[in-house]
Amino acid sequence: MINPEEFLKFLKERRSIRSFLDKEIPDKEIEMILEAGRWAPSASNKQPWEFIVIKDKEFKLKVSKTAAYGRFMKQAPVLIAIIGKTRISPKWYIIDTSLVTMNMMLMAWSLGPIGTCWIGSMNRERARDILKLSETDYVATILPFGYPEGEIPSPTARKSKEKLVKEI
Ligand SMILES: Cc1cc2nc3c(=O)[nH]c(=O)nc-3n(C[C@H](O)[C@H](O)[C@H](O)COP(=O)(O)O)c2cc1C
Repeated sequence: MINPEEFLKFLKERRSIRSFLDKEIPDKEIEMILEAGRWAPSASNKQPWEFIVIKDKEFKLKVSKTAAYGRFMKQAPVLIAIIGKTRISPKWYIIDTSLVTMNMMLMAWSLGPIGTCWIGSMNRERARDILKLSETDYVATILPFGYPEGEIPSPTARKSKEKLVKEI
């Protein structure tokens, strides 16, 4: 089992990375990131998702243009689009794909780290067209993966426990 203190430290040290080295990620590591996603929990275990690994430069450039704040995606050696299958789980696909995303982000961070950043604001219809998906598919996010360029950013602020936690 993982040491709980170390695990909490690991969670606290993860940062969103927005600048990447021009260095390939070995396939084995991409496989591990995909596995971490595949093992995410989902409502009624419906697993309403698919993953698209994007390495092609042209595709990377095209999908990066769909992001409002994520053009840096095109720098990353690999992107993974996380697709929600709305027909499989109409009520939970957003939550379920969010859990996939978190699993992948944490797995990546444990690998070196490999950095990534959740891309939230994007033109999902446009991304869906570029990826040739069906109208019932939901592009939850497209995660860029790459080795961080330069220093790991300083920790971002968190609200205090006093503000967040109530005990009854
Ligand atoms: C749902 C969601 C959407 C986000 N969308 C974006 C985005 O579009 N572009 C971006 O650069 N960062 C995005 N982020 C990253 C957040 O800005 C980042 O997680 C937050 O500032 C905390 O920093 P940390 O991840 O380094 O702890 C998003 C994060 C989440 C959870």
